[in-house]
Amino acid sequence: MLSYQHSYHAGGPADVHKHLALVLLLAHLTAKAKPAAMIDLYAGNGIYALTAPEAQKTGEYQNGITRLWGLPDPPAAIAAYLDVVKRINPGVLSLYPGSPEIAARLLRDGDQIILNELHPGAFTALKRWAGNDPRINTHKRDGLEALLALVPPKPRRGLMLVDPSFEMKSDYADIPARLAKAFDKWREGIFMIWYPVLGDARHKPMLTGIAAIAAPSIVAEWSLAANADQGLKGTGVIVLNPPWKFDTEMTEAGAALAKLLGGKHATRWLRPAV
Ligand SMILES: C[S@@+](CC[C@H](N)C(=O)[O-])C[C@H]1O[C@@H](n2cnc3c(N)ncnc32)[C@H](O)[C@@H]1O
Repeated sequence: MLSYQHSYHAGGPADVHKHLALVLLLAHLTAKAKPAAMIDLYAGNGIYALTAPEAQKTGEYQNGITRLWGLPDPPAAIAAYLDVVKRINPGVLSLYPGSPEIAARLLRDGDQIILNELHPGAFTALKRWAGNDPRINTHKRDGLEALLALVPPKPRRGLMLVDPSFEMKSDYADIPARLAKAFDKWREGIFMIWYPVLGDARHKPMLTGIAAIAAPSIVAEWSLAANADQGLKGTGVIVLNPPWKFDTEMTEAGAALAKLLGGKHATRWLRPAV
């Protein structure tokens, strides 16, 4: 089942939350000179035109990035994220960076960007976007299969982003099981998992499953203001093996988001570091 297309949702509240966390994590990876790798299991198109019919149809970006764009003095906690958006939009906001574009902007020569996408249309767009960037390798595999097959990356210092469309309800059970195996193969890896918060709280067993993995983990959840995004009650990010101080940074970034866009944000240890 591959009906989901991210072009309808690019730049919405969920993307803003997820990409804020991603930018914070990439800043940690690039703070040291040693090369790093990012694996993006559900990469999408790479970059999105907010003027496209899909984005215009839902208008989700207007409840997300549009409301942060043009802030005269953005809070320091979200400045690095906004800077990436500004770099691709000199002047008017018309493009939104997907996770591959964010990685390509923040990672360095000598780092590795491993992108996986199964949807034929999205994969074609992704390949076109990637061009001849020597840091990028693309794969067209099922995400859950790639979750195990692509770890550990070279270099081993790195991050994996797991943000499926969750069209398959079974993903909520399959992800913790796969992650546990991937963690056994790549104990030093940072794993970031994004999930939607829906009315029936179907993400909760997934959190319980991930908490059972013997690695420190943090969960950051933003309960959205009413009607911020059709059907979505909130958006969550779990980070396994979070870098030092990520909890404080995410707390500050989430507080800034909630202040600017409404709702409530909370960061907590799912499994504390010992
Ligand atoms: C939430 S979107 C990804 C957004 C992107 N990571 C970003 O942050 O810009 C999920 C993506 O997963 C793709 N997808 C759906 N099922 C998949 C599967 N079984 N394996 C790999 N990709 C899949 C969809 O085509 C979609 O592009």
